[in-house]
Amino acid sequence: MASVEVDGYLIEKLISEHEIQVIVQELAERIYTDYQGRVPVLVGVLKGANPFMADLMRELGRGNPETGRPIMPVEIDFIQVHSYDGQVSSGEISQSFDLSTSIKGRDVILIEDILDTGRTLTSLMDRLAERKPNSISICVFLDKPDRRKVSVEAKYCGQQIPDKFVVGYGLDWKQKFRYLPFIGVVGQAVASQISTPPLLLS
Ligand code: IMP
Ligand code: MG
Repeated sequence: MASVEVDGYLIEKLISEHEIQVIVQELAERIYTDYQGRVPVLVGVLKGANPFMADLMRELGRGNPETGRPIMPVEIDFIQVHSYDGQVSSGEISQSFDLSTSIKGRDVILIEDILDTGRTLTSLMDRLAERKPNSISICVFLDKPDRRKVSVEAKYCGQQIPDKFVVGYGLDWKQKFRYLPFIGVVGQAVASQISTPPLLLS
């Protein structure tokens, strides 16, 4: 796929807006099949899950007349944790924002942008399980299985990708690029005044 210049950097497109839409629709079909008749709580992990969570919620709320999938009611809440400093996973997970509602007895679907080492989601699963929900499952947009350090099962996964540091669709590199509507890989800085292009992991 083509590269585009964004804010002085070259970003190589990996997953297009249209492909994202198709992936979200497929995930919504599966979630509807598994949860019909219940009202799950989608718990988005800030900040990265924001666009994915919004798209998934709207897709569930839209239904799909072509497949016969009706509108599915959900509730939403958010939690925020930090594990990354630039491209380096610190290994330590700290929570900075908590749910505003009780999940006791509820069916929780934890929504995350990407599953990398697995530390963040393992820690979150442990923390949320203490609140006695009826069930918890994980839904990630992307998965980098080659990077896994801690075993964690994502019931729903949009797409597996190779071990590359990606940005866009909520994912950042030093808080940049979350706003991009596609997933891309950061390459060289193209503007000569930017002296430190991002280091690529591979
Ligand atoms: P884990 O705890 O190593 O699984 O890390 C998960 C978190 O690391 C995600 O929620 C992201 O915030 C961040 N992360 C992992 N890989 C990437 C990436 O390729 N681009 C941007 N953020 C990433
Ligand atoms: Mg994140």
